[in-house]
Amino acid sequence: MKNVNILKIGSSQKVEKTTDAVPEEKPVQIKLNGKDFVTLLSTPTDTKELAIGFLLTEGLIKNADDIVNLEVSEEKVIIEVRVSRESLQDSPAIITSGCGRGVIFRPLSNETKITVKAKFSSWLISRLMKEFLTYSTRYGVHSAALADSKKGILIFKEDIGRHNAIDKVVGATLLQGIEVANKILLSTGRISSEMVLKSARLGIPILVARSCPTTSAIQLADTAGMTIIGQVKAGSMNVYTHQRRIISNLVERIKEIKETKHAIILAHNYQRGEVQDIADFVGDSLDLSRKAAQTDAKIIVFCGVHFMAETAKILSPDKTVLMPDINAGCPMADMVSVEDLRQTKAEHPDALVVSYVNTHVEVKAESDYCCTSANGVKVINSLSPNQKIIFTPDKYLGDYIIRQTGREMILMPGYCPTHQTITPEGIHQIKKEHPQAKIIVHPECSQGVIAVSDAALSTNGMCRYIKESEATEFIIGTEVGIIHRLKKENPQKQFYPASTRAVCPNMKLTTLEKILFALEDEEPKIEVPHDIAQKAKLAIDRMLAIS
Ligand code: 13P
Ligand code: SF4
Repeated sequence: MKNVNILKIGSSQKVEKTTDAVPEEKPVQIKLNGKDFVTLLSTPTDTKELAIGFLLTEGLIKNADDIVNLEVSEEKVIIEVRVSRESLQDSPAIITSGCGRGVIFRPLSNETKITVKAKFSSWLISRLMKEFLTYSTRYGVHSAALADSKKGILIFKEDIGRHNAIDKVVGATLLQGIEVANKILLSTGRISSEMVLKSARLGIPILVARSCPTTSAIQLADTAGMTIIGQVKAGSMNVYTHQRRIISNLVERIKEIKETKHAIILAHNYQRGEVQDIADFVGDSLDLSRKAAQTDAKIIVFCGVHFMAETAKILSPDKTVLMPDINAGCPMADMVSVEDLRQTKAEHPDALVVSYVNTHVEVKAESDYCCTSANGVKVINSLSPNQKIIFTPDKYLGDYIIRQTGREMILMPGYCPTHQTITPEGIHQIKKEHPQAKIIVHPECSQGVIAVSDAALSTNGMCRYIKESEATEFIIGTEVGIIHRLKKENPQKQFYPASTRAVCPNMKLTTLEKILFALEDEEPKIEVPHDIAQKAKLAIDRMLAIS
């Protein structure tokens, strides 16, 4: 973007001299085997990707190996490409309907057939389009992106021309050696036949755009085996060709495969609404570990964070425990390592260790008791009054238990970053707007937050309290995902998050797509070494016996 001087005339006729950022347009000259071949008018970024993508999508090269030499000179933006003689064939250029008249150098051969069998859900397409549009930085400039169901947007490029944007993405895909069979190409522009041609040459199975395709685009995509989707807006879309690749009802598909494989889906109260809706059980850490121990299902799909799935595996070692996104960890669990705990134990050899369930299995294996926020007070009260106790890792939950039980404990220094976004000041502000609302918070919150609350409860404890309460308005001091369940169970009551920033990024990693893939592939699996699992189980079993 470049700043230019402008005269700005506002709606109230206010006139001012100012500057405006506008996209740059420069000629990018491509020389082929020493001769001028074509000049593309484009935004002068990613010119290497543009040249390679252009040559591939125009059928002038087949892959990056066809390029013998490539030089980019920044000032002039001249790209010299030497391609082998065999890859050059004479063919008449076709003037297309592209803005400012595009040119097709070589039509698509009849042999181009995309046979990829991968399926994609309509829900994924909507989500990717939404994500794609948030990437766009330049008003009035076209964008294109390569995406997949697991990582979302992988490559994003912009240009003044929609074809150039696609060529840049294609070039980058080639340079990075990305396999395209299970990928999706997104574009902000309308789908013309040359857009289909470019995508088909890359071998991409799906092209998605905001507007509709032309008749020639549909015809070409049909012949080439490509799925084209247009008019993607607020959850709706039109699938024009090869509709077999699109799963229109992801939920039905998950239910079907779940039945066939005799699987059960467990979801924590902080999961996305749509994940909670498909789950067989939604609950807090304690409830979910009980469910995992009781179920006779062969497969448990655990929608939560890593320590929860690990606990399920420890309690059901013979079952397959799947985690739709294995990267969903818990920062609090990461804050106290087994080495830290061993050192504290060495400093207090006569102390028992009570670890919050939000710990890695190695820490549980070094602990005498486990607890959750629902039974922490009960577990500590069950220990003899003079017993010295080390509590790990949550210093806030530990502090809450100390105040509830009157016991002394040695606290380790962990905390939940998500719950720290909730402050007494923030709560006061909401309370001013809703003076009748009851304040319900999680004991992972700080002491100041708990002090201004009406009740500090585990997530299931909150659900029970609110169901039984006569009050109709509640300020919810925990991860915002629980409000989905609260609204479902209490449609007549009002809920206000104590902090809209209380969103646990790890809890949100699980999506419907990932659940489907986990069920289909039976991956990623949770495995816990037998000896560590045995030791950790002792601490968990002691907790379950008490609660
Ligand atoms: P509970 O659902 O057990 O209250 O736990 C909250 C939590 O932070 C889980 O990570
Ligand atoms: Fe961990 Fe906090 Fe997320 Fe719970 S909400 S998983 S404690 S980071």
